[in-house]
Amino acid sequence: MSNNAIKRPRGTIDYQGEMGLLLSKMREILLDTAKSYNCQYVEVPMFEESSLFHRSVGESSDIVTKETFDLQNKGEKNYTLRPEFTASISRAVIENKLYTSPDMPLRFSYFGPVFRYERPQAGRYRQITQFGAEFIDSKIDIATSVEAFMLSIRSAEKLLGHEVSVKLNFLGSFASREIYKTELKEFFKDKIDNMCDDCKRRYQLNPLRILDCKVEEDQVIARDAPRVSDYLSDEDKKEYQEILKLISSIGVKYEIDTELVRGLDYYTGLVWELYDEENLNLGAIGGGGKYSSLMAQIGGPDFEGIGFSLGGERLLLSLDEKRKNELLSDENLDYFIIDLLKDGSASILADKLRDLNNSVSIASYSRALGGAIKMADRLKSKKVIIIDTDKTYKVKDMKNREQQEMTLEQILTEASIRLC
Ligand code: HAM
Repeated sequence: MSNNAIKRPRGTIDYQGEMGLLLSKMREILLDTAKSYNCQYVEVPMFEESSLFHRSVGESSDIVTKETFDLQNKGEKNYTLRPEFTASISRAVIENKLYTSPDMPLRFSYFGPVFRYERPQAGRYRQITQFGAEFIDSKIDIATSVEAFMLSIRSAEKLLGHEVSVKLNFLGSFASREIYKTELKEFFKDKIDNMCDDCKRRYQLNPLRILDCKVEEDQVIARDAPRVSDYLSDEDKKEYQEILKLISSIGVKYEIDTELVRGLDYYTGLVWELYDEENLNLGAIGGGGKYSSLMAQIGGPDFEGIGFSLGGERLLLSLDEKRKNELLSDENLDYFIIDLLKDGSASILADKLRDLNNSVSIASYSRALGGAIKMADRLKSKKVIIIDTDKTYKVKDMKNREQQEMTLEQILTEASIRLC
């Protein structure tokens, strides 16, 4: 490869080979789990009017202030590649008047790329695959909150094949958060001059985010700040306790983290993050929470939502070898056909086998028998069918390497029985 060959952008992945297979398997498992919660799959545009993210994700979140991919303007409106899904889905609910549905709460699932201009490092990318769900209603009740929360956990567990660890916190309703923000401002008033520039900005826009600062000196200052739990209204406390009680009775283990505020501005009420204990260095594999005023903020009705997103890359990095093999075993090829007759019989047979729901590949005519068998092994084919020059069909079981001659009818009968 010459030095000036074009390379993929930093912080992106070419999903090919095993990674390509794992990505599509992951998509299938996660969206199937969402289906079992009656979530409807939606797709929204990959770019939106920039103001959507400024008004929803928030002016104090790093995602909006520093990390958006803004598209070059060609005299139209300003557009931004979506840094997340929640704002876009809320916009779609408003624009398509989906909130008028008699069947509330609305339940949506999604899977696709989001874009954040972050500094790439282990587990941190610029194009991120997110799977998630959003539940929307005029008022999100406890049952719906727990549905969203459980789906996030169960879908991650289904993919990883083991339990995930859960951290949660409760940020309170919009009203109680406003009181808390005022108290935080009071606390930081005589300290903010000695804190980092990001904190100074957060102090003005959303002092809650100061608690999220990663600068060690600032963390020490913030340690004595009032906690959001001290400012919850009676109604908030009741909701929080009921949610905790319900998730405990389902049997979910969790840790309460009173410093968990999340990096997006729209949260009110329950917030949570998921981690894989074996891969804590990757950061959270997912996170979510309730948002009570986002819809109104972007011009919709005063509806609430609750949802979460899992990070696809971090999930894939968390898969151990055993789980990867389990996931990939379903992807093995059912039939590999070697056509020594070279008269098109392979294409006719492949079409019939695929009609019976099998995966099939055909060796190119130029490949010699030995090379073709090796290729079948590399493709992890379950069976090889050799169409011989004397027009007979020889079927080789690649597990026990036994070979037997079969008629076309026998092959097709076996292929259809294997389906049951
Ligand atoms: P988030 O916490 O910003 O939440 O992102 C969700 C997940 O995406 C993270 O937990 C992480 O696994 C993954 N992720 C985020 N940024 C990166 C990155 N640069 N590289 C690799 N993985 C990353 C949201 O996006 C909210 N929309 C979640 C939500 C839905 N809240 C309510 N509804």
